[in-house]
Amino acid sequence: MTELQNKEYNIPIITIDGPGGVGKGTISALVAAELNWNYLDSGALYRLTGLACLLNEITFDQTNAVAQLAENLAVKFLPEGGILLDGQEVEAKIRTEVAGNNASKVAAIPEVREALFKRQKAFLQAPGLIADGRDMGTSIFPDAMVKVFLTASADERAKRRYKQLIEKGNNVKLADLIREIQERDERDMNRSASPLVAAADAHIIDTSELTIDEVFQEVMSLFKMAQTKNR
Ligand code: DC
Repeated sequence: MTELQNKEYNIPIITIDGPGGVGKGTISALVAAELNWNYLDSGALYRLTGLACLLNEITFDQTNAVAQLAENLAVKFLPEGGILLDGQEVEAKIRTEVAGNNASKVAAIPEVREALFKRQKAFLQAPGLIADGRDMGTSIFPDAMVKVFLTASADERAKRRYKQLIEKGNNVKLADLIREIQERDERDMNRSASPLVAAADAHIIDTSELTIDEVFQEVMSLFKMAQTKNR
């Protein structure tokens, strides 16, 4: 057994996958705080790669150059919140709708996914890991202890996002958000490398009619059941 396999064998992982705007980040952060585990926001790595392209004037069709940037991202996730790229705070810049769309474009490049593979694995540290993304349970951590796949209709996700953006004082149209979410789903589900799909052994939770707390409780109960089974 290699050192990596050995490490994976010992450290528990919960993967939380699903489409954009479904609440993965919120739920993952709550579960990570409850268990005091590490948190991998894999989407942030794709968003940072997209931003690095813009800063270095690399277009998304220059696939090798984009993969090089992904490989060499000088990124620091600050424990108190915030993300540094080359020493600059970039959290606000990578959370926009445009940054999400750019992330989805670079994420469709197989060489970029390969370049980010090891970096994602490195988040696996004791006492445990919550891994949030699109392919956590299928490609990155296929042996995870619990795999969750969150869903909600594109309309419902767009409505939630609309509410958040309006509350922050942004001027957005619901119809535009629905269209953008549908476009992003389409690209994430239909790419050749690690498309967005639930792992065969994932627990699918439709969050359309559930509160954040209800989803959180459901994930915690799946974890407790798995823990009992493993004893
Ligand atoms: O979760 P997010 O919205 O921050 O992700 C942004 C984009 O990154 C998403 O549209 C697709 C891509 N992504 C991916 O392909 N694989 C992941 N594990 C995470 C994100």
